Amino acid sequence: MRIELAKTAGFCFGVKRAVEKVYEQVRGRQDSKIYTYGPIIHNEEVIRDLQKQGVEVIHSEEDLEKIGQGVVVIRSHGVSRRIYDLLEKKNIACIDATCPFVKKIHRIVADESEKGSHIVIIGNSIHPEVEGIRGWAKDRVSVIQSAEEANRFRIEDEGRKVCIVAQTTFNYNKFKELVEIIDKKGYDIIVLNTICNATKERQEEARRIAGRVEAMVVIGDRRSSNTQKLFEICKNECLNTYYIQTLDDLDVNQLRSVETVGITAGASTPNIIIEEVQNYVRINF
Ligand code: F3S
Repeated sequence: MRIELAKTAGFCFGVKRAVEKVYEQVRGRQDSKIYTYGPIIHNEEVIRDLQKQGVEVIHSEEDLEKIGQGVVVIRSHGVSRRIYDLLEKKNIACIDATCPFVKKIHRIVADESEKGSHIVIIGNSIHPEVEGIRGWAKDRVSVIQSAEEANRFRIEDEGRKVCIVAQTTFNYNKFKELVEIIDKKGYDIIVLNTICNATKERQEEARRIAGRVEAMVVIGDRRSSNTQKLFEICKNECLNTYYIQTLDDLDVNQLRSVETVGITAGASTPNIIIEEVQNYVRINF
């Protein structure tokens, strides 16, 4: 059997960096308690492993209010300015693992907002990354994710600049479509395409591989939206596409009669799981 493993499978740069920062804290810990602000990645295996090592997940500002001391690691999605202020007020150490690409959006939003621009974030308003970005703008900010919302968008002071940024994982074509709708309104707009290529590259490679193999295995946590998307893309190209969380979910019968298998994995799938699957398929088929 020939196996084709996607080069872009697994952690992107930002997630890898964030996970490493938590493990660094675990290794170097003195007595202080370690927290992550939200799960460091959408992967049950990793979260469980960190929990075993005493890392606790805090889920909200209220949780943060309750803790007395320790170290809080901020995940790659980033957080609003208010959270940094709260950490400082409470004198809690902060390890900032916000992805530098997200950090860049925070800076743009803070600067443009300071200059008086109305900020538009093209993205999903309940996604933590978008909540974080929103928290760097002053009062004039809108989150838009559909054509209807873009059509409805209005600003009161028409002389005001409109600064448009995107959630890093937003679909580029959709972003373009929404920007075009807003552009027609005649406002003075500046558009910053802040979409990160890691997702696009992973999806394109997966599509290419799925198009030429007989079976495709997509590895990732059930709740990971980028893994679900990868699965859909692969399934479109290759009917024999299987979604697994770990090696235990792999149904060996499904791969019995094929000669080529492609493997890819979502942005929050640890390398060790990818290797396990790859080795298992190599040895057993
Ligand atoms: Fe950063 Fe892009 Fe990953 S924004 S967290 S490298 S998907």
